[in-house]
Amino acid sequence: MVARAQNYVCQSCGAASARWAGRCDACGAWNTLVAEGAAATTRASRKGRLFVIEPLKGQTLEAPRLASGVAEFDRVTGGGLVRGSVLLLGGDPGIGKSTLLIEVAAAYARGGQRAVYISGEEAVAQVRLRAERLGLAEAAVELAAETAVEDIVATLSHGKPPQLLVIDSIQTMWTQTVESAPGTVTQVRGSAGELIRFAKRTGTSVILVGHVTKDGQIAGPRVVEHMVDAVLSFEGEGSQQFRILRAIKNRFGPTDEIGVFEMTGSGLQEVANPSELFLSERELGSPGTAVFAGIEGTRPLLVEIQALVAPTSLGTPRRAVVGWDPSRLSMVLAVLEAHCGVRLSGYDVYLNVAGGLRIAEPAADVAAAAALVSSLAHSSLPADAVYFGEVSLSGAVRPVAQTAARLKEAQKLGFGRAVVPEAARTEAPEGFALSTIATLTELVADIVRDGKPPLRRVGRQDNE
Ligand code: TYD
Ligand code: MG
Repeated sequence: MVARAQNYVCQSCGAASARWAGRCDACGAWNTLVAEGAAATTRASRKGRLFVIEPLKGQTLEAPRLASGVAEFDRVTGGGLVRGSVLLLGGDPGIGKSTLLIEVAAAYARGGQRAVYISGEEAVAQVRLRAERLGLAEAAVELAAETAVEDIVATLSHGKPPQLLVIDSIQTMWTQTVESAPGTVTQVRGSAGELIRFAKRTGTSVILVGHVTKDGQIAGPRVVEHMVDAVLSFEGEGSQQFRILRAIKNRFGPTDEIGVFEMTGSGLQEVANPSELFLSERELGSPGTAVFAGIEGTRPLLVEIQALVAPTSLGTPRRAVVGWDPSRLSMVLAVLEAHCGVRLSGYDVYLNVAGGLRIAEPAADVAAAAALVSSLAHSSLPADAVYFGEVSLSGAVRPVAQTAARLKEAQKLGFGRAVVPEAARTEAPEGFALSTIATLTELVADIVRDGKPPLRRVGRQDNE
């Protein structure tokens, strides 16, 4: 006997509940519960089927990983797609997911692999039009506009299975095994499950596209995050041309690598040296900007950190930060106040990482502090200097990993000096000046020495 009951599923987090409610108990989102036919809950018991257990030390004949040739994509996936793996590519609508994947599919096809691109959103003619615009009209990618998962699996199970299958997007797919409407959490999960089974059975690498909106309103592709092998996110500021591909989860590779692309009139171009791009529009010599020599994954990356410190008109001053961790900003501000005599309680503080980049490294502490003090003191930092170092709560500047790589990248891009932790003293490349600092106080003293007006007159309580 099959018991069928009405079930309410949150379209934001996927939690199921037996009653409808205005607010999801699990994630707190409002008005996201939708009735979905519950799947069969009881089944006739059956005897267990015997299956083969294999030793771990087995032999796999084919290459486990296939590189696409799109270097930035391969870098983020950890060297290419693993056979039979399923990858979810999330991102805002219009960010360039379809563009990226048709380019990746074309790259695989160029390498002699069978690549199939299934669009549930666009007609074949539209996909073809885009490929023409990208100069890929001749690529041997196989196209279809289809949304029924069973049909897709049946079609691709004939003959030699493809090496790459792109599903654009998982939200448009539907499977007969589930009763609810396409786009609902249950359908997204059911369809993904079917496609994952197909991938494991045939060895095809599958890429699922998932739209994510900022407020998470669309049935979240998040609900399949735990089912897939890797989750990549494609990000960028609408107004800017940079697009950053980032791994959020990767069962077969690193999660700290980023791939950088530039959206141009003829598609996405790979950016092999992102530092050049991120620094290209730098305003030299304006107070409040510092260049941070960072590391993203295995690659050094120079990026500008901008700060604005301005007297506040509010009771509680504003602290806003884009591209960096707000709690690290609070910590740096607290250290500046407590150990360096920099009064910030009367000021609004804004911090921005240029180029739409997001930095997670504590090594950015010193660069952020330099930008903040520079803005407060109206004292611009030397245009040829880079900054890095972690700040501890005691105000000490601590060493960070990969100093040599950071300095080498800075030198390559024409910088002549760096303000760094003391431990970095021995790592300077030839012809490169280092000023080492042991504490944040030393940094502040260096910056305000020629600042106007003097720092001590800037604080609200300090007016003599
Ligand atoms: P698209 O790949 O369709 O985004 P998604 O699949 O993530 O929704 O990209 C859409 C945007 O990219 C659109 O605003 C136009 C822009 N674009 C270019 O600037 N140049 C191009 O060559 C292409 C194909 C798109
Ligand atoms: Mg698209």
